[in-house]
Amino acid sequence: MSGPIQEFALQAATGETIHARNLWGKYVLLGSSGGEATPALARALDGLVPRLAPLDAVAVVVASDPVPVLAELTAREGWKVLLLSDPERGLAQTCQAGELVLLDRVGIVRWRGHDPAEAIAALADLRSAEGEVNPLLRARRAYRALAPDPIPREALVRLVEAAHLAPSCFNNQPWRFVIAEGEALARVKAALSGGNYWAKRAPAILALASHRDLDCKLSDGRDYYLFGCGMATGLLMIQATQMGLIAHPIAGYDPLAVKEALGIPNEYVLITLIVVGKPGAVSTLSDKHRAIELGPRERKPLPAVLAWNKFGDLNQTEGT
Ligand SMILES: Cc1cc2nc3c(=O)[nH]c(=O)nc-3n(C[C@H](O)[C@H](O)[C@H](O)COP(=O)(O)O)c2cc1C
Repeated sequence: MSGPIQEFALQAATGETIHARNLWGKYVLLGSSGGEATPALARALDGLVPRLAPLDAVAVVVASDPVPVLAELTAREGWKVLLLSDPERGLAQTCQAGELVLLDRVGIVRWRGHDPAEAIAALADLRSAEGEVNPLLRARRAYRALAPDPIPREALVRLVEAAHLAPSCFNNQPWRFVIAEGEALARVKAALSGGNYWAKRAPAILALASHRDLDCKLSDGRDYYLFGCGMATGLLMIQATQMGLIAHPIAGYDPLAVKEALGIPNEYVLITLIVVGKPGAVSTLSDKHRAIELGPRERKPLPAVLAWNKFGDLNQTEGT
């Protein structure tokens, strides 16, 4: 799997300009002959259209030919496949000559190959998985058993890069991360509360600080900086999960001592520390934490947090 394909604007055989976003929402099976449109490739993809359509997918052929040539071919052959003229080889770079490439609904390459039957099977798999909760969300847990192995700086930067893609009110981006290592990390660890003993094994701890003036403040008391930082932390944790890392936010620390250790100005709120590490041995945990680590994930039943049309039974504040 790789990232989404680059933005493009290509003319179709109809003369219509097709942008990447025009294909969003559909799966795309893309083929290129590596140059001029070959009838064999276009015919093969055209033949797949009736099987692709029920799977919410379209077939696209990119070719170096000018639009009139593609228009003539389409009219002569009666093709339903979308022929795009790509003389600069922008989109065509996505696939090698003769290769088929399957893009998902947001233009991310999910499969490459040569066998149309395999492409359809890959598409069917993607379609059946899309209604599920994202597996990374299921896999993420606030695990505590950490290995002390160092985490490369690039990986830590990647986590913050993911966090930094979070949406925020007016795009204010209120999050400020400080990555503690070396002496600074030792001082942060000294400021952890007793229950967070396990975090002392962490090779890295990130501090997330912000200030209410860094984000929207609405008249009814909605200060959105905490919300923005929460979303950024969520994205960071998902990125960490993808990278096989644990990223565990904690509130149990002496905030003044951590701020002092990291030079965070007093007027900032130290919203959370995020403990980062590779998974380690559960034998390093207390009995209580080992049981949580190895036990099932605990969640209230969905109706306790979701209502339709009326708040009703959600109004139960005891126990929080
Ligand atoms: C704001 C916040 C503060 C937390 N503080 C701590 C903490 O100080 N120590 C700790 O061990 N876990 C802490 N956690 C982890 C939670 O206990 C954990 O997310 C929760 O029990 C749900 O478990 P799960 O994330 O594995 O689904 C914190 C989580 C959040 C979001």
